[in-house]
Amino acid sequence: MDTTTQERVIRPARNIMGSLRLPGDKSISHRYAMLGAFAEGTSRFTNFSTGADCASTLGCMQALGAKVKRIDCDAVEITGVDGRVTPSAEALDCGNSGSTMRMMSGLLAPQEGCFTLIGDASLSKRPMERIRKPLEAMGASISLTDGHAPLTVDGRSLKPIDFTTPVPSAQVKTCVLLAGLQTEGTTTVREAVRTRDHSELALRAFGATLNRDAHSVAITGRQSLHAIEATVPGDLSSAAFFLCAASLFPGSSLVLEGLGLNPTRAALLDVLAALGAKITVLHLEEKHAELVGTVQISAPAEGLGSTEIRGELAAQLIDELPVLAAIGPYTSGGIRIRDAKELRVKESDRIALVAKNLRAMGAEVEEFEDGLDVPGGQSLHGATIDSGTDHRIAMAFSVAALRATGDTLIQGAESAAISFPEFFDLLDAAAER
Ligand code: S3P
Repeated sequence: MDTTTQERVIRPARNIMGSLRLPGDKSISHRYAMLGAFAEGTSRFTNFSTGADCASTLGCMQALGAKVKRIDCDAVEITGVDGRVTPSAEALDCGNSGSTMRMMSGLLAPQEGCFTLIGDASLSKRPMERIRKPLEAMGASISLTDGHAPLTVDGRSLKPIDFTTPVPSAQVKTCVLLAGLQTEGTTTVREAVRTRDHSELALRAFGATLNRDAHSVAITGRQSLHAIEATVPGDLSSAAFFLCAASLFPGSSLVLEGLGLNPTRAALLDVLAALGAKITVLHLEEKHAELVGTVQISAPAEGLGSTEIRGELAAQLIDELPVLAAIGPYTSGGIRIRDAKELRVKESDRIALVAKNLRAMGAEVEEFEDGLDVPGGQSLHGATIDSGTDHRIAMAFSVAALRATGDTLIQGAESAAISFPEFFDLLDAAAER
């Protein structure tokens, strides 16, 4: 990825209008890429994520022996290795992507050979002990430096475990399931809060059998995967920026077609509805067990109300919290967020950066170890935003900028391309000025 820092000016908008179809979901694209590359046969994916993170997964899987052919910017054909990867002489570069590093470690731990996984400066600071622990309990050998990448996997055959995730994390759950898929016996993952279940749905789509109940999933090892053809649903976490933007302007009307609406991902729609936004869901269908539909949203004439996000909801909304906090000042009663300590170990410390940037725009905000209080009824002014080269911070404050007085300068705007390279163009198209 180009590492030059770019700035982007966001001008205030009068309204948000239009109809959009968003690029493919990042979480699902990672999983389809990894499983397609591991399966037997040739998989084809359309509306595949255009973000740099999923390109990192494709690059790693190619280095491990899968054949990856880009048909178009959002279409990819992958011929898998049928369960046995080729160790790569070079380190596997996961870029900025925690999903790639954590999930791929589980895929590689039971393989023969030695694999080194590296990442950029941000990824090299993120916690990796959370995957080392369960993998080592399975008998794997994982080396880290102070709990961080570079991460080295010395592959060997593993034994199954019954593991309870200490923090809610779909990446950790997936890591253990991918190791379990290749391990004789039954591996079980239990979680107190049900995290996104794309891996479970994708594993089934590729032909694996899993047993699930409300808070656990079990996989029996030595199952083989078979290629699929799939269209990736639009990314709801990318849509979050547009849904929140539209919620700010009475008179707005935005339609998002082909959007992923998996219930373990769609809590944002409930939160925006509770804040007063009018939301209609149309044309619901299932594709490889993922729910897909069209969402129509408009803002309430009286403005947004107030909400508190804590407990299970905080975990389920983790990627959408920065943009919700960024629009907090424009609500009447504010937004309170708690139980979201995980935000501190994402691509940046998202609690600190949200607080810093809201203050730069003139807002009052109180920061807690595990969240934020953003009082409502405040007006913001344009400012220089430090995105910390974190894609979700850059995009969240581009949304806050739409209702501010004066222009806002987003530093590190290029980071949007980690998940959503089309973001600024689509925002320009939807914003009436
Ligand atoms: C993801 C899980 C979440 C999320 C991340 C994508 C996934 O991370 O924040 O953007 O695709 O499984 P955690 O597993 O660390 O909660």
